[in-house]
Amino acid sequence: MNEYQANRRKLLGAAAGLTALAAPGAFAAPASDADWERIAQSYDVASDFINLENGYYGVMARPVAEAFKRNIDYLNRYSSFHLRRQFDNDGMEQIRAQLARHTGVPADELAITRGATESLQNLICNYRLLKRGDTIMYCNLDYDAMQYAMNDLAQRHGASVALVQMPEPVSRQAAIDVYEKAMRQHPRTRLLLLTHVNHRTGFVLPAAEIIKVARSRGIDVIVDVAQSWGQLDYKLPDLGADFVGANLHKWVGAPLGTGFLHIRKERLDAIGVERGDEDYAASDIRSRVHSGTVNSAALMTIPAALKLHEEIGVANRGRRLRELRDYWVHRVRDLPNIQILTPDDAGSYGAVTSFRLLGQTSPEANVALVNRLMEHYGIFTVMRKGPVGGACIRVTPGLFTRTTDLDKLVAALRDLAAG
Ligand SMILES: Cc1ncc(COP(=O)(O)O)c(C=O)c1O
Repeated sequence: MNEYQANRRKLLGAAAGLTALAAPGAFAAPASDADWERIAQSYDVASDFINLENGYYGVMARPVAEAFKRNIDYLNRYSSFHLRRQFDNDGMEQIRAQLARHTGVPADELAITRGATESLQNLICNYRLLKRGDTIMYCNLDYDAMQYAMNDLAQRHGASVALVQMPEPVSRQAAIDVYEKAMRQHPRTRLLLLTHVNHRTGFVLPAAEIIKVARSRGIDVIVDVAQSWGQLDYKLPDLGADFVGANLHKWVGAPLGTGFLHIRKERLDAIGVERGDEDYAASDIRSRVHSGTVNSAALMTIPAALKLHEEIGVANRGRRLRELRDYWVHRVRDLPNIQILTPDDAGSYGAVTSFRLLGQTSPEANVALVNRLMEHYGIFTVMRKGPVGGACIRVTPGLFTRTTDLDKLVAALRDLAAG
C-alpha cells in the first residue's frame, strides 16, 4: 500500500483523521498535578518569556503541531490530486461529521470556515429578515469586527442600532437585566448579537437566559462563541441559539485558520447564501460559506486537534484553566489599587480575566503597563479597550501555564499596585 492509499484508508476509516496521534490515553482524564505537568510539557513554547496572552489563539500541543507539519508535507507532495480526489469531499465531510459529534448538532447544520470572524461576518452580513425601521442590537463589549458588520447591516437595510452598555462591575443578573431593559426600550429589535465569553473582560454572559428572553420577543440571536468554544463545557443546543459562529484555533488548539458556523436547519432561510454562491444548493448550509482556496493542511489537522481535545476532556480543561485563573486572581483581588473586572461567581468566568490599576483607564496607560510587565518582568499580556470603566489588561493562561509563572505575575502586580 502506498502513502496515498494508506491515507485514503485512514480518511475513509472511522474518526481517525489523517494522521496518527500520541498513543490513545496518553492525555486522558488528567486529574493530578503530575497529569497537568505532563500536558504542560506537551506544548513546545518559548521559555524566554511567560505567555499570558492565550486569548488571541491557542498554541497547538505537540501531537497536533506534528500532525500539522506532516499534513503540510503530505499536501505539498500530493497537492491538488489529494484535494480533488480525497480531501475536498471525503475529508471535509468527515470533519463535519466529527464536528457534529463534538458540537451536538447535525453535520448538515455546520459549515467549516477559516475562523469566527468569517463565520460571524457571513451570518450577520447575510441576515435577510431586517426591514427598514427595524432595530439591531449589540453590546459595547462585543468584538469590534462584529460591531462593524452589525453597523453595515443596519446601514444597508435602513435599520437603527441599539447599543447595550455592559455595567461594571457586572454579574449574571445585571447582564440579563441590561439586555431585558434594552429589548423593552427597543421594541422593534429584530436581531441581537451576543458574545458568550467576552474577549475584553472574560465575563461569561448568561447567553442561554438572554436568548430565551429574546426568543420570547421574536428577536433572532447570533452568538459569538469564539472564546467559549472548547473552553466551557457545553453543547451548542444548550445555548438555544439559531445562529452561532466559532473558531477551532483558540480553545480547541487546531491550526490557525479553522472554524465553523452553525445554523439551525429550520432557520437556514434567514441567512442568505454567501456572495451568490452556486456551488451548493441554497438548501445546503455549505452555500453560506465560500472561502476559496484555503490552508487545507490546517483543515486536515482538525481531526488531530479534536482527538486530543476530547482526550483531555473539555470539562477537565475548563476546570484547569479556571484553577490557573483563580490562582492569580485570588492573590491580587484585595490589593487596594487593583480592579478585577471579571466576577468570581461560578459560571461567570473561564481562563480570561482582566484588571486595571485604579485610575489607569486610558488605552495609553494600559499599553504602558503591558510594556512594563513584558520588559521588567518578562510577562506578556495585552491591553483591551471598550469596557465602560475604561481600558484594562487581559490575562489569559493556557494549559502550559505553571503556578510558578503565576507567582511571578502576582509579584509583578503587587509591585505595580504599590506604585
Ligand atoms: C470574542 C471574539 N470574537 C471573534 C473573534 C475573532 O475570531 P477569529 O480569530 O477566529 O476570526 C475573537 C478573536 O479574538 C474573539 O475574541
